[in-house]
Amino acid sequence: MSRHVEPEWEAVGSVADFEPDRPERCEVGDVAVMVVRTSDDRVHALFDTCSHAEVPLSEGEIVDGEIECWLHGSTFNLTTGKPSCLPAVDPVPVYPTKIEGDVIYVATNVEL
Ligand code: FES
Repeated sequence: MSRHVEPEWEAVGSVADFEPDRPERCEVGDVAVMVVRTSDDRVHALFDTCSHAEVPLSEGEIVDGEIECWLHGSTFNLTTGKPSCLPAVDPVPVYPTKIEGDVIYVATNVEL
């Protein structure tokens, strides 16, 4: 039987700290997370390691609403973490986010 887990929110910065479509690496607890505020003002948080060869996704670029890994070019959906093209085949974990006031929060004790 599954048990509901409450997110443990951690502040990662203010909205103004995150330029639109520029991924940032944030340490949330002991987890490295890529946080990005997209140009439509949504905030996404993904595990900051490509599922293909373990380089930081935060060093990639947002292309057509997805994060593109700089090493071999796989792109990952920001909402599901699923790769849209090879060579990556496995998804990366996606974490819940929220904005309260002008502060962005991420929780890494649960995955979406
Ligand atoms: S390391 Fe990311 S696609 Fe290969």
